[in-house]
Amino acid sequence: MIKDDLKKILISEEQIRQRCFELGRQLDHDYADNHNGLLFVGILKGSVPFMAELIKRVTLDIEIDFMAVSSYSGTETLGDIKIIKDLEHSIQGRDLVLVEDIVDTGITIKALKTLLYNKGAHDVKVVSLLDKPSRRQVDVKADYIGFEVENEFVVGFGLDYNQKYRNLPYVGVLKEELY
Ligand code: IMP
Ligand code: MG
Repeated sequence: MIKDDLKKILISEEQIRQRCFELGRQLDHDYADNHNGLLFVGILKGSVPFMAELIKRVTLDIEIDFMAVSSYSGTETLGDIKIIKDLEHSIQGRDLVLVEDIVDTGITIKALKTLLYNKGAHDVKVVSLLDKPSRRQVDVKADYIGFEVENEFVVGFGLDYNQKYRNLPYVGVLKEELY
């Protein structure tokens, strides 16, 4: 079983559920007067479980969409990302909530925010299940954070190691001998 590959469970199912309730209430509050067509944008694939849990706790009128990106490897330019799957919705003049699994170096969300503003978004906020501030390389931060984690590699609840472990219902740390 994949759970046997974990050294420890860091964040339990119940903690994640509870935190999504709190984030949902906060988003409800902060976007109560929003009239710019609130769109939650999940970044595939890591955000899928978090997106599903979070949007159930938001009572506002929202739409959801997904995009997939990858960073250009082999270039020294920080922040160049390639769109693998683009949004279906037009985002012109809309308010977006980017839903991410983790903010690590920050390169992905910084590049994505720039890209979405360039495509005409009115406002882009970021909600991330996890934040690993000790690894940041660019000056960016999520507006809403589920949990802060130490500088260790985490898997589960959407987060993968070589595409594996995304289906674990909690967040844990892999045994060292596995990577
Ligand atoms: P960035 O470094 O902030 O651009 O993060 C890019 C991506 O790296 C995240 O969306 C995750 O998919 C992945 N990532 C970063 N840290 C971890 C981790 O500890 N476990 C699994 N994936 C991670
Ligand atoms: Mg990711």
